Amino acid sequence: MSFPQTRMRRLRATAGLRGLVRETDLRAGQLVLPLFVAENAPSEQGGREAIATMPGVDRLSLSAVVAEAHEAAALGIAAVMLFGIPAEKDEHGSGAWEEEGVVQLATRAIKHAEPELLVITDVCLCEYTAHGHCGVLAADGAVDNDATLELLARTAVSHARAGADLVAPSDMMDGRVGAIREELDGEGLHETPILAYSAKFASAFYGPFRDAADSAPAFGDRRGYQMDPANGREAVREALLDMREGADMVMVKPALAYGDLIRAVKDATQLPVAAYNVSGEYAMVKAAAAAGYLEERDTVLEILTSLRRAGADTIISYHAKDAARWLAEQT
Ligand code: PBG
Repeated sequence: MSFPQTRMRRLRATAGLRGLVRETDLRAGQLVLPLFVAENAPSEQGGREAIATMPGVDRLSLSAVVAEAHEAAALGIAAVMLFGIPAEKDEHGSGAWEEEGVVQLATRAIKHAEPELLVITDVCLCEYTAHGHCGVLAADGAVDNDATLELLARTAVSHARAGADLVAPSDMMDGRVGAIREELDGEGLHETPILAYSAKFASAFYGPFRDAADSAPAFGDRRGYQMDPANGREAVREALLDMREGADMVMVKPALAYGDLIRAVKDATQLPVAAYNVSGEYAMVKAAAAAGYLEERDTVLEILTSLRRAGADTIISYHAKDAARWLAEQT
């Protein structure tokens, strides 16, 4: 049957009808708030230092990160995802696996203050290496894949020991999920799940994050290890490989320009899929809203809903707190 018998507008007529047939839901419990913990955060201004390219996001001291965790938990947000900014960097990124490292300290403090809130830790070396690459360098200056694996595994174990609920490797080295799983299991940490940044693209949308975390590569770029944005089949292969190595959840990152791959990875793996609504995606919305070009609330909720519709079970977003507040107002 078609028009005039069929009228699509019938079920759009009222809020009640629209709610009855809505296909996709968005809840605070699906959101993850990324946080930047800085060893050098100021002790004044509540331990916060604004990040110029990410309005509303700060570099946080240990006490400020606990305050954020309380706020996130009160809003019903599922988890925080921690990124560390150490005071000192070196060639090997040794700050990444220190027992008293900034992420390890923050993890312990948050789990102590807010035990129900999940803590996910980003496992990577780029914030800790002097050269800013995600692994250690070989003699020719390229990132040495196999030598990096052990350091990532050590980092993941130190996060899990500090109390991380999930560890999330974002380095894009081959074999890192398997190496991390083996090391965790060897240390008796069988129950710590791995959220693999499986399809992580070499993206221009990470620009503001690299300012925030002071992690821009000192030379070259990340195209030797992060994926080419032109490749979709390869993203599915990456996710399948990570699944075979033991990933419990997989991620597609960035999110907005990659909805097709969220769906493809979901269908191929049947694993829970996370989408990372990255720093540049956040910055675009904030800039347009500040200029009066877009209405922030509706834009953000539309974006986050579209990621759920594409197949994301979990959404990592700097908008998480605002979104959770807006969702609470709606009901
Ligand atoms: C670390 C890492 C990056 C992001 C998450 N983990 C930066 C990068 O790969 O350069 C980006 C997150 C964002 O832009 O919000 N490897």
